[in-house]
Amino acid sequence: MAGNITLTMIKPEAMRNNVAGGILKMIQDEGFKIIALKMKQLSLAEAEEFYAVHKERPFYDELVKFMTSGPIMAAVLQKENAVENFRNLLGSTNPETAGEGTIRKAYATNLTKNAAHGSDSDENAQLETSFHFSEKEIFG
Ligand code: CMP
Repeated sequence: MAGNITLTMIKPEAMRNNVAGGILKMIQDEGFKIIALKMKQLSLAEAEEFYAVHKERPFYDELVKFMTSGPIMAAVLQKENAVENFRNLLGSTNPETAGEGTIRKAYATNLTKNAAHGSDSDENAQLETSFHFSEKEIFG
């Protein structure tokens, strides 16, 4: 059965552009409940660990550098079938092909600076939630 949480990070460029509020509004308007939220600066080691699955990919160094370039906002979102529903709201990884009404169409700059992250599986949603939040910080 599909899980009911997913993990998002509003990325540094979106934070610099001061659009975190707009992204959170799109999330809430789509029926997600924000059950955990924090603003934080990722260290190099944290960004490398978070994106470890991409370690061998050509974009890894740029991704890690970008994700440590300023604060991010991490949140746990609750809704039925959360992972798939949130990825639909995010739009495609590359904003050039993101559909109308998606977060990336509205706020992303390019493939790296693509506004926000979303977990890609229920298993990763759990792992990524534990990465950013303790049990006491989640109000599910
Ligand atoms: P995100 O959902 O955070 O997960 C991995 C990130 O790698 C992705 O969003 C993109 O921002 C970034 N990325 C950069 N280049 C690529 C690429 N060529 N293919 C996929 N992801 C990329």
